[in-house]
Amino acid sequence: MESHEIHITIIGSGNVATHLGLALMEAGFIIEEVFSRNAKKAAELAEVIYAQPITELHKLGQDSDVYILAISDDAIGLMADNLSFLDNKLVVHTSGATPSTALQAHKRRGVFYPLQTFSEDVEVDFEQLPICIDANKKEDRKLLSLIASYLTPLVYKVNDEQRAQLHVAAVFVNNFSNYLYQIGCEITEATDLPFDILLPLIQQTVKKIDSDYQPIDFQTGPAVRGDKATIKRHLKLIKQEFPKYSKLYKTMTELIEVAE
Ligand SMILES: NC(=O)c1ccc[n+]([C@@H]2O[C@H](COP(=O)([O-])OP(=O)(O)OC[C@H]3O[C@@H](n4cnc5c(N)ncnc54)[C@H](OP(=O)(O)O)[C@@H]3O)[C@@H](O)[C@H]2O)c1
Repeated sequence: MESHEIHITIIGSGNVATHLGLALMEAGFIIEEVFSRNAKKAAELAEVIYAQPITELHKLGQDSDVYILAISDDAIGLMADNLSFLDNKLVVHTSGATPSTALQAHKRRGVFYPLQTFSEDVEVDFEQLPICIDANKKEDRKLLSLIASYLTPLVYKVNDEQRAQLHVAAVFVNNFSNYLYQIGCEITEATDLPFDILLPLIQQTVKKIDSDYQPIDFQTGPAVRGDKATIKRHLKLIKQEFPKYSKLYKTMTELIEVAE
């Protein structure tokens, strides 16, 4: 099946709807409609992906092969229920943390989870991005796999249980590490140094990660070396200057000390 034979409707106009909608359009899929509660956002996204903007659910067409719900996790279940008029259509969501049962109003349901961090105006290379797919029917798994394969070679079949754990892992490696960068930013700026001074260190840390090794193999710093005096000095400084990070520093240090 060629990509232009597959028609897709996108529900939502946020970060994922926008990046995924653009990638699908560029890969040759026909994006029939974009639904958003916000008329301006629906029109803006629809214009760039050559789709019809829709702001009233009951006006959604029923000609698409797949309906992608790229909306907030908490809104997925209700939206799926409100779309129950889509008879025998494949409805999927893009959430890592939401079970596919949130779509139980639909006989044909699935997941199309792009494992990446999406922000407005930050370009994403879909060819380097894993897409985790699943569906309750074999034919639909094949269809989602085919659609994903037009975007990236990294297509994984991931069930609800696996995806729930994968999402926890993603929160650790992305959300939490990004927050740690923010702490680094706060600490350097508090001493009149630019955050940029840490960028080569951050980049080298990521560069060292390799599928042949585990991150633990490259752990450096006072905790892994057992440099107790340095840890004590750090804790004293953190207690004085950045007390809200004392607990975090201690916990991370203790975990690194016993890591295998
Ligand atoms: N961002 C990421 O890095 C990322 C990565 C992978 C997967 N995901 C998943 O992708 C989905 C969308 O995330 P996002 O980052 O694109 O979120 P987002 O930028 O915050 O956009 C959320 C979208 O959901 C819509 N929405 C919220 N509540 C709604 C409701 N009750 N009814 C109808 N529409 C509603 C919003 O519409 P309004 O503009 O009208 O409020 C907006 O279009 C989530 O399931 C998320 O877990 C996100």
